[in-house]
Amino acid sequence: MQKLTVRDADVSGKRVLLRVDFNVPIEDGKVKDDSRIRAAIPTIRHLLQQNASIILMSHLGRPNGKVVESARLRPVAERLSGLLRIRVPVTGDALGIGTSDAIGRLKPGQMLMLENLRFHAAEAANDPEFAKTLAAYGNVYVNDAFGAAHRAHASTVGVPSIVPGYAGLLMEREIVNLSKLLESPARPFAAVIGGAKVSTKLAVLESLMTKVDTFLIGGGMANTFLVARGMTVGKSLLEKDRVEEAGRVLAAAEKAGVEFLLPTDVVVAKEVTRGAEHKIVPAHKIPNSWSVVDIGPQTRESFEAALEPARTVFWNGPLGVFEVPTFGDGTRQMARYLARRAGAGTSVVAGGGDSVAAIEELRLGPDFTHISTGGGASLEYLEGKELPGIAVLLDRPAPPPKAPRKRAPARKEPAVR
Ligand code: 3PG
Repeated sequence: MQKLTVRDADVSGKRVLLRVDFNVPIEDGKVKDDSRIRAAIPTIRHLLQQNASIILMSHLGRPNGKVVESARLRPVAERLSGLLRIRVPVTGDALGIGTSDAIGRLKPGQMLMLENLRFHAAEAANDPEFAKTLAAYGNVYVNDAFGAAHRAHASTVGVPSIVPGYAGLLMEREIVNLSKLLESPARPFAAVIGGAKVSTKLAVLESLMTKVDTFLIGGGMANTFLVARGMTVGKSLLEKDRVEEAGRVLAAAEKAGVEFLLPTDVVVAKEVTRGAEHKIVPAHKIPNSWSVVDIGPQTRESFEAALEPARTVFWNGPLGVFEVPTFGDGTRQMARYLARRAGAGTSVVAGGGDSVAAIEELRLGPDFTHISTGGGASLEYLEGKELPGIAVLLDRPAPPPKAPRKRAPARKEPAVR
């Protein structure tokens, strides 16, 4: 990897500022999904083994510069503490004399967590004074918050502009796995893209167009493509202002020889709610007052058949309204199918929000080749954008140019007698 990692840093006896993305769902004061916390543990253990002390920095939610009680990091620190069996106190605030004193008392092998950085508007504004104060807490900076690497905030860009910044082990894993999709995927390469809104996926479709052999499209975003192909979608979610763009993507796929599969049958419902009346119809016969809520069984089968030859698969976004259990068959079957394929040696990478939630809910995470902890960040990475939180980290120095090899003196042929 082009960036220096925590393995390259001398952290022994040092105070390490570790930016993590512990922006996790919290319900009734408890962490509902701890996969982002677990994903940062290898870096934390590595630092502790190296005799460093750690100052954990994270955001939670979008409190927009105000103290919001439900966005306090205590439940997160408790879960981390339980996983590591080490006490992880949280400071009352990221700033203040109490915080700097607590940091001053930290001994090698100990850690603490700063309270939610976004309680200060200065974090999202990348305020130089705020960054300077945070930077002064430590001697080395490590970023394991891949999920926040697309944000140019004080803790992702400001601090590593002052203190030498290294990639954490999770950050390294994300970069290695996602860049492989862009640079050297084993072919055939298929991308399964779903989710509600096509507007948030057009850029990634365009970027992957030159890399993939097949696109398989599901979720609410497929409706806009169905309309671009001349069908009607009843009451379904539709981004009318994106139909033309969707049409351009279809034309580009045809020109590039990329297979572009849309649902051929769909589950439609009277209402998008639990227990609503629903039925399966062909995609070209969606009734006027019904909404598409999932891909149909024929589509599930044809998608699997199309994925059969793939040696690399990227999956982003659910294929239906999977949070309503009856409308989640398409998403769950895809999660199970891809987990099996990964187990059989296909490289399967999943990224982004809700499809990952479906994988985690089925406890299939360990079967996948890689599950990105980034939502927006993984999409922007695959769109080919430079993420500011990665760009700012130290580059691996180029190896010294090889000295020209001396030519061996010509061997003298023995004289022929
Ligand atoms: C995420 O959950 O995608 C990251 O934590 C970034 O959160 P944000 O979109 O609020 O910046």
